[in-house]
Amino acid sequence: MQDLSGKHIVLGLTGGIACYKSAELCRLLTKAGATVQVVMTEAAEQFITPVTMQALSGRPVYGSQWDAREANNMPHINLSREADAIVLAPCSADFIARLVQGRADELLSLLCLARPAERVPLLIAPAMNREMWSHPATQRNLAQVQADGAIALGVGTGDQACGETGDGRMLEPIQLLEDIVAHFQPKLLAGQHVLVTAGPTFEALDPIRGITNHSSGKMGFAIARAAREAGAEVTLIAGPVSQPTPRGVGRIDVLSAQEMLESAVDRAQSATVFVATAAVADWRPASHSEQKIKKDGSGQPPVLHFVENPDILATLAKSQRAQSGALFCVGFAAESENLVAHASAKRERKGIPLLVGNIGPLTFGQDHNSLLLVDANGVRELPRATKLVLARQLVAEIAARLPTRSPP
Ligand code: C5P
Repeated sequence: MQDLSGKHIVLGLTGGIACYKSAELCRLLTKAGATVQVVMTEAAEQFITPVTMQALSGRPVYGSQWDAREANNMPHINLSREADAIVLAPCSADFIARLVQGRADELLSLLCLARPAERVPLLIAPAMNREMWSHPATQRNLAQVQADGAIALGVGTGDQACGETGDGRMLEPIQLLEDIVAHFQPKLLAGQHVLVTAGPTFEALDPIRGITNHSSGKMGFAIARAAREAGAEVTLIAGPVSQPTPRGVGRIDVLSAQEMLESAVDRAQSATVFVATAAVADWRPASHSEQKIKKDGSGQPPVLHFVENPDILATLAKSQRAQSGALFCVGFAAESENLVAHASAKRERKGIPLLVGNIGPLTFGQDHNSLLLVDANGVRELPRATKLVLARQLVAEIAARLPTRSPP
């Protein structure tokens, strides 16, 4: 599955050292299925050559409004009309100022001005020194360019090529790709606050050891990403996993089921959707040893006692917010057999409107899965696909079931 297949992106480069990242961005866009038409300003060509960008995009680069290759000699019209989006990466402080002024004396600013704004979005990835970034003129121009309809993708923070440290770096190519892909997703959850639990829990026995499981957190992280792409505010409560946080998602790391419950109860007060994908340990050790439990030489293993963990999903499903319809709860069930019967029974037992079943051994740690949706009306299968594709389908299913649907 390619997230950008069928999309045509005009990738505009303006003058800045971050141009070296645009080569990688171009590669990522084409790998994601997009066709990419590169347009470079004269200043951008000081940092990276059109040869590199032509080789990576597979198309000749445009740099001049007088380019005679176009039969009508109007590259600004032709290039902007065929685009699904114009992405300026890097977008320099000077270029933002040019956009604000509506300048049109070179090809890139000319085609931005000439774009049909209602159907060709302009996404900008600013890149500059931290002093330039924080200067009131830049911030004023950035606010104006957004008021005029451009979408600013934010900046990174950290070491800068000039040797200084701070805000203003261009986002990494992979982050820009994630934002561009998100831009094209339908905003089915705009105005919603989605809370997701993901990964395993870790129930400590002593400072060294504990009880956990093989959940990778991939499905929950994919749902958090898909919900964010769909326009929701997203909070992700994650057990110990090594997944990267999706762009724009607020993440809370926890270890034990008890910690996960406390965070979930707290965040559920403002959430409108709760998706419980975490593989919460059913039991935790009744006591936690302050020191490592040692062998005592007797050959007798220690006797461990366990107590049951709270059921986070059932707790939230019983809450006043869920009962009044303000919080839509979705559970997951990992079974090893007889999925329909077990999943249906679990939905009833947990008191939730939607339960998603899957076969545990076929999903743990995998990038692909298939899901079974069980609600009051029956059962529906989402066939095998990547977890991100399934997560987007699940988000659409959730959106369709919400009591008050936000306008797209
Ligand atoms: O009862 P079981 O563990 O099979 O139920 C799975 C569903 O319940 C999942 O959505 C899981 O995240 C949630 N759950 C929970 N707290 C627990 C156990 C399960 O939220 N203690």
